[in-house]
Amino acid sequence: MMKNTCFIAVGSWRMAVFLTLSGVLLLSSNASADGWDPGSGTTASGSIVNTRHNLTTSWNAYDYMSSARNQYNDVCVYCHTPHGANSQIDAPLWNRTINSDSNYTIYDKPTTLMRPISVPGPSSLTCLSCHDGTISIDSVLNMPGSGRDPMNSGLTNTEVGTSNASFLGQWRAAGNSGPMSVHMTLGGPGLTCAAYCHNPANEELTGWTDFTAFVIGEDLRDDHPIGVQYPDTFGPSVDFNPPDTTIPGKWAFFDTNGNNFADTNEIRLYDSGDGYEVECASCHDPHGVASGGAGSRFSPSFLRVNNGVVGSHAGVTGIVSHGPSALCLTCHTK
Ligand code: HEC
Ligand code: HEC
Ligand code: HEC
Ligand code: HEC
Repeated sequence: MMKNTCFIAVGSWRMAVFLTLSGVLLLSSNASADGWDPGSGTTASGSIVNTRHNLTTSWNAYDYMSSARNQYNDVCVYCHTPHGANSQIDAPLWNRTINSDSNYTIYDKPTTLMRPISVPGPSSLTCLSCHDGTISIDSVLNMPGSGRDPMNSGLTNTEVGTSNASFLGQWRAAGNSGPMSVHMTLGGPGLTCAAYCHNPANEELTGWTDFTAFVIGEDLRDDHPIGVQYPDTFGPSVDFNPPDTTIPGKWAFFDTNGNNFADTNEIRLYDSGDGYEVECASCHDPHGVASGGAGSRFSPSFLRVNNGVVGSHAGVTGIVSHGPSALCLTCHTK
């Protein structure tokens, strides 16, 4: 019960929620402590609706999360909007505020790096808009329904960088489900998803998924380089594979099925002005990728190519392995 003391300090209503939830969830089994979590409540197949990127958490019988983020009841809207998208980022109909404060510390191992490396490109800033832990999960430009166009309201959410809690609070004020003032970020200090509930201690106590590994942060030195240029010449001295198709100004990709289209299960490099670069979405598809054809379980960790996880973990039934380090060896010849 040690855990509960910090919740009392924050607010008794939250403690009540916490106690109720732990009563329910103490019965659930602990999730795996792997880098990825096969113990998710989702089926991880068919659609993003059945993945952890469905932030409505509609797979749960109870709406646990509405004290932490606005419940938009719409899966796509946490990331996309059909109209009025964020024009500050070259990403598909992007509905989120982004962090362009250039506070990122980029990967820097000068003794080994042979390629130029720049700040994260658009296909990384999208992910980092949740995973760097600086922006609220529900920090969107356009909330569902009419009448909450930030451009026409006294309050605006078009500032880049931090969420605008007053603007986001309009959702709850209009009678919807969600917090009036606390709009949590994934991680970092303070009242965040990872610090508040989704941490190792609570995973042990209640079975709540530990998010701490999901918080990439703004220091990218301990992450696979992103914004790093892919080689443009190949040969015996270059230990990288050439991509099959290159479309300047857009992307290059490994066209494993030879259909001239960058399929979701094909690794790609994004050209946002500095040549073809590795970005988060080179390796990951945030909508989930079937590991073994339509209907099969998604590759773990939203990966485009399953790096070999199969069999030896709990909860991997139905995941098809693409072979040991298949993802890494798409680019690296090692
Ligand atoms: C957690 C965030 C997130 C959610 C939720 C989400 N998307 Fe996306 N979506 C992205 C990102 C990021 C990209 C850009 C990927 C890239 O850089 O190539 C994208 C790209 C797309 C694209 C264009 C490129 C592609 O991959 O096909 C379409 C279409 C799309 N999303 C549709 C949807 C729909 C429909 C939904 C809801 C059912 C949805 N998305 C939910 C993050 C999300
Ligand atoms: C709208 C916020 C948001 C955006 C944008 C977003 N994510 Fe996530 N992501 C989350 C949250 C929240 C979780 C944890 C959800 C859970 O465990 O229930 C998560 C979980 C993950 C996981 C862990 C999945 C697992 O099963 O272990 C990976 C990997 C991931 N995200 C990658 C990405 C990548 C790559 C992008 C960009 C292409 C991205 N995310 C964009 C919010 C986001
Ligand atoms: C070169 C490929 C590659 C790139 C680029 C990449 N990732 Fe990953 N990512 C992986 C692999 C492989 C895993 C699975 C690790 C595991 O199973 O423990 C992973 C796991 C994750 C996880 C789950 C937590 C964890 O540590 O296992 C998150 C969240 C995530 N990535 C987000 C991102 C974000 C955000 C970016 C861009 C800043 C990014 N990734 C760029 C390959 C990549
Ligand atoms: C989309 C292509 C791509 C994929 C997939 C990929 N990498 Fe990389 N990786 C690169 C590039 C490009 C660099 C930068 C190399 C350089 O400039 O020296 C890099 C750098 C690295 C480095 C650092 C090398 C250095 O010199 O500092 C390591 C280690 C590494 N990758 C391992 C992996 C592993 C492990 C995986 C699989 C989880 C993986 N990579 C997947 C393209 C990729």
